Amino acid sequence: DAVELGQYRHYMQKEIFEQPQALANTLEMIGTAQRLSPHLFGSAAPELLDGVTRVLILACGTSYHAGLVARYWIESLAELPCTVEVASEYRYRESVPDPDTLVVAISQSGETADTLAALKHARHLGMNRTLAICNVAESALIREAALKFLTRAGPEIGVASTKAFTTQLAALALLALTLASQQDWITGEEEARHLAALRHLPVAVQKVLELEPGIAVWARRFADKQHALFLGRGHHYPIALEGALKLKEISYIHAEAYPAGELKHGPLALVDKEMPVVAVAPNDALLEKLKSNLQEVKSRGGELYVFADQDSAVSEEPGLHIMRLPEHYGLLSPVLHVIPLQLLAYHAALVKGTDVDKPRNLAKSVTVE
Ligand code: G6P
Repeated sequence: DAVELGQYRHYMQKEIFEQPQALANTLEMIGTAQRLSPHLFGSAAPELLDGVTRVLILACGTSYHAGLVARYWIESLAELPCTVEVASEYRYRESVPDPDTLVVAISQSGETADTLAALKHARHLGMNRTLAICNVAESALIREAALKFLTRAGPEIGVASTKAFTTQLAALALLALTLASQQDWITGEEEARHLAALRHLPVAVQKVLELEPGIAVWARRFADKQHALFLGRGHHYPIALEGALKLKEISYIHAEAYPAGELKHGPLALVDKEMPVVAVAPNDALLEKLKSNLQEVKSRGGELYVFADQDSAVSEEPGLHIMRLPEHYGLLSPVLHVIPLQLLAYHAALVKGTDVDKPRNLAKSVTVE
């Protein structure tokens, strides 16, 4: 293989641990700037981003989950309505085109057939403000879009996407900030503060990676289970989705993710001691709500595995295990909270002995429909 494994057992593990560097590389182009320039997205960006009234994000798989996180950022920072759609659905449905919509296609490979076709479909409908966020410079998606942002994750070999995802999040945070700045929704001071938080991400992610030994212990308790449920709220709901996807992809354990408030509308019926429940519990405005959702699980005998922040007001009790992330990270917290879920899936797959880098029936890049 052209890319060496070095000290790692699998590419997926290597790629999980490369995330601090991948983020640093992706963020390198902002340098020490206190304000962002739209030119980050290409020379036509000042013109094409000006007058944007909505954002439509198109993607598949893990890239779709990055889009779901970005929706929260774009709506809260830039106050632009944002929809996120699975590319294979968008390309075939009758939708209402709007030339002032910024169409963002997200793809690690830039060759996913559905994402490419969805972007072409949007253009065909007259939407010419298009942006590709992609990890491969010479890809079809990059050629197709008017604007581009290249993530610098480096080659991703493991079929289950990890470092591409976190670098996509970094790119999308830059997009949300650029749109916010352009609309004058944030002050220069706020922008500088967000940029400082972004620059600190590689260090913050590095600290989260140190949780690996404890996560490996938790993973052993998942490996013999048939099902798992992932819960999150707000911008961590897409992180719960991504955690469930990772577990499904490589350990073949059936996993579902729910926004925790929906528990009572169905999935609670499935909870028993045989179904581990993973909760993403950062210290944010929704923590108290999430805690009452967790009690609902506990009182039904469910075993809870909670990823909290250092300062989340939750405590261990029988049936409720807690692991704390070293730093509380506000808006960018999803970038940190996905890391332990990647590691949990990886270690559960190791225990099960599955082919981590090449899971059955899946391809790294789906270039046919
Ligand atoms: C495949 C891969 C996933 C990936 C998805 C989208 O299903 O197995 O890991 O998220 O394609 O790929 P893209 O290259 O468009 O991000």
